[in-house]
Amino acid sequence: MKKDVFVQHRPEWKSRIGFLLAAIGSAVGLGNIWRFPYLCYKNGGGAFLIPYFIALLVVGIPIMVLEIGLGHKMRGAAPASFASVSKKWEWLGWWPVLLAMFGILLYYSVVVSWCVNYFFYAFNSSWTDSPNTFFYQKFLMLSEGGPFDLGNLRTPILFALLAVWIANWLIVFVGVQKGLERANKIFMPLLLILTAIIAIWSTQLPGAAKGIAVYLTPQFERLTDIEVWMDAFSQIFFSLSLGFGVMLAYASYLPRKSQIVKDAFTISIFNCMFSVFAGFGVFSVLGYMSNSTGKPISEVVKESIGLAFIVYPKAISSLPAFSREFGLIFFGILVIAGLSSAISILEAFASAVIDKFHYSRKIVVSVLSVLGFLGGIIFTTRAGLYWLDIADHFITHYGIIIAAIFECIVIGWVFKAEKLREHINHYSTWKLKKWWWDVSVKIIAPVVLTGILTSSLLEEISKPYGDYSRLATIVIGRDWLIFTLFFAIIVAVHEWKVEPKDRILTH
Ligand code: PHE
Repeated sequence: MKKDVFVQHRPEWKSRIGFLLAAIGSAVGLGNIWRFPYLCYKNGGGAFLIPYFIALLVVGIPIMVLEIGLGHKMRGAAPASFASVSKKWEWLGWWPVLLAMFGILLYYSVVVSWCVNYFFYAFNSSWTDSPNTFFYQKFLMLSEGGPFDLGNLRTPILFALLAVWIANWLIVFVGVQKGLERANKIFMPLLLILTAIIAIWSTQLPGAAKGIAVYLTPQFERLTDIEVWMDAFSQIFFSLSLGFGVMLAYASYLPRKSQIVKDAFTISIFNCMFSVFAGFGVFSVLGYMSNSTGKPISEVVKESIGLAFIVYPKAISSLPAFSREFGLIFFGILVIAGLSSAISILEAFASAVIDKFHYSRKIVVSVLSVLGFLGGIIFTTRAGLYWLDIADHFITHYGIIIAAIFECIVIGWVFKAEKLREHINHYSTWKLKKWWWDVSVKIIAPVVLTGILTSSLLEEISKPYGDYSRLATIVIGRDWLIFTLFFAIIVAVHEWKVEPKDRILTH
């Protein structure tokens, strides 16, 4: 095929707001609504906001600019973008999209399907007697023998997973404008309105102020703990959908005239504000719970997953009025936020495959959706929660950080940050400054991330994650990373139909 025909056929967002909503849709997800508030709580309340905002400024925004700028320039998903820098680095494009597609997306869709189930349970508060027993014993039927004691499949989760995958498939199948852009134009306003309703409602509950005080009162002594910093940095990547090739793929559909810097700031800041805002809602409910049970907040919340599926349901059933509506809205929010993030991961991988092999979108998306559903089944077994926990820990604490360090080095030093900055500045009205952006990408981000990675590794060696057997963390955690890396290298050596460099946008 002649280069122009192929490159000219690249889809484009219809409008700037369409791109912004899709990118925000990817960023705002389950990570904002239950992961962030829990991390805040676990890591010293208001003190967590300090490393979190430092992570946003030091790595979050600079890498967001990098990914959007690179996708815009290379007009391709992650593999095409890195292959355009040098074929030697193409694997660095495949590895994160593989990790996201056959790692995060598999379990992320399962968590969305838990939310779908809970949405229906909310109609009659099925969990009323004891949300804790309901979640672990009746709903997940968590096996007692650890990760390898799979037990049978949990059919309610399996059916919901099928529905989630049908939704993922449908939206991405129809394409960038008609699928992703249109879905996000509906999802995002709805999400905002529902979140505003629930957050304002929560702050009116008796005891809310007590919860908010815990949320915002810093415990500065926690800042000396390296784990707090690790959590903050990995949360920033996860939450901003950075390092997984998602923003790169979305930016590759931008029209020539684009506001790269402004958009990168808008997406990053909006996402983090959304988290902080959702935190008010969550902590108000915790305060209310502590008020009505007479227990301190530390007793009310113990673990991350429990926050959405145990503490919240408990609070919902104890509301004096409109508890059904509250439950429906809360789980509805989680489903919408989760779906709009899930489709972005599917798109990032699908566009990577289409770029390289030129298969039709419809075939690629259909095959991936079937594989995604099948791959997710392991998380619907009775040991699913263990698998999810281990895979999530290794991918978000190691996979993504390693990929991001390489990303900064390859773009900063091999491709040269100044070259990309020049491209970005040519199109943007907000101009990047060398002393800020180049220095962040070339030096600060890789150094800080390497420091974080080394300390996580040291910590992991001295104290393996969770209470799992060594075998489980090796097979489900480490080997998952190695296997996807291996696969990335194999796909990367395959020949291109059209040289990736031919798609680069020049001015
Ligand atoms: N950012 C999403 C969230 O916060 C999750 C996500 C991670 C989406 C990686 C895409 C890529 O829930």
